[in-house]
Amino acid sequence: MTAPKSGPRIKIDGAGLQRRIDELALISENPAPVVTRVLFSEADLRGREYVRRAAREAGLALREDAVGNIFARWHGREPNLPAVGSGSHTDAIPNAGRFDGVVGVLGAFEALAALKRSGFSPRRSLEVVMFTAEEPTRFGLGCLGSRLMGGTIPVARAQALRDREGRGLDELRAAAGYSGSLNSVKLPKGHYHSFVELHIEQGPILEKKKIPIGIVEHIAGPSSYRVTLHGEGGHAGAVLMPKRHDAMLAGAEIALAVERAAKNSGSRDTVGTVGVFRIEPGACNSVPFKAYLEIDLRDSRLDTRAKALAEIRSAARKACVKRGVKMEFEEINADPPADGDPKAVAIVEKVCRELGLRSMRMVSRAYHDSLFMARVSPTTMIFIPCRNGWSHRPEEFATTRHIVAGAEVLAHTMARLAD
Ligand code: GLV
Ligand code: MN
Ligand code: MN
Repeated sequence: MTAPKSGPRIKIDGAGLQRRIDELALISENPAPVVTRVLFSEADLRGREYVRRAAREAGLALREDAVGNIFARWHGREPNLPAVGSGSHTDAIPNAGRFDGVVGVLGAFEALAALKRSGFSPRRSLEVVMFTAEEPTRFGLGCLGSRLMGGTIPVARAQALRDREGRGLDELRAAAGYSGSLNSVKLPKGHYHSFVELHIEQGPILEKKKIPIGIVEHIAGPSSYRVTLHGEGGHAGAVLMPKRHDAMLAGAEIALAVERAAKNSGSRDTVGTVGVFRIEPGACNSVPFKAYLEIDLRDSRLDTRAKALAEIRSAARKACVKRGVKMEFEEINADPPADGDPKAVAIVEKVCRELGLRSMRMVSRAYHDSLFMARVSPTTMIFIPCRNGWSHRPEEFATTRHIVAGAEVLAHTMARLAD
């Protein structure tokens, strides 16, 4: 790889970064290669300890807020100026892989460590964030830490969230050692001058095109909904078919309506998923009296997402009337898409050119904490390829070479933004 025309001469320690990614992967609720680190689980807490140690090894100063966002800072020559931020998450959904989020946290530590080794001295402070609960597993709502940092979610709403066992955020964060008012999590205006998140693409495009760096110009808007269906239970042998009010079958019709509506929205970016579907009592010889679904519906456009949602709601109503099932349909979140900052995108593009790395601008179909950082700071993301586009599964894989390239581009981008 050629050195950039301008900026510090840095060398990413690829072996060290890969070792740390592999070590963090072993901190999991499930045996390797599966990575599961649900918010405030024992594995998440041990993962946080690992993150603190890695930040200290990179020579960064630590701070944590009341919801458990971890900040690791390199104080600049003018420490009162808004900082240049980076970071991602280390929580992982059940049955995940080792790279989602982790590359953006450990990669950013290594980017800053490499800048330090080069003798670079930033004017603005550089800060890496490990965001709390990017994944929605515990509370059904993703990006909890960045939503609170950006003031996008009212504190009372965050406090009202409950996990499957009925435990709330305040109870769980206290048990994890986080106290203080959630009101203090919101960042003061102008905290960040700019924000750049490094992440695996979680899609197949970069690998297919053999392009090592993607630069995010647009992040699709996620939304999710909770559907609870109340039917009537009974004996699977005794209740004859015309007499049934099967909550599971109403749910099945709704799940198929989600697929249909996403396919027919008119936008190829509309995607709909029913990733949670629970029934009660869950016995082979009993008619399900209750079903619980969580719907994930996303799009890079709001009009086609709204059209798909209207179709899903209408199909759900019809299925429930037909089956004599009562329905509660609640919105969990409906976030607008975000645009990458054109200046930050142009800087990343220039860094890639100077490093001799091919790059392309792209849309992120996955959501990220950057979706919420983009509301409070000019933001973009650096994507690297991952094998077959696989993510949210244990086979998720990115090469050390691509991870190093991503960290190198991040380091140079942050150095430029800091000056
Ligand atoms: C983030 O993990 C997402 O679901 O896009
Ligand atoms: Mn994820
Ligand atoms: Mn992620």
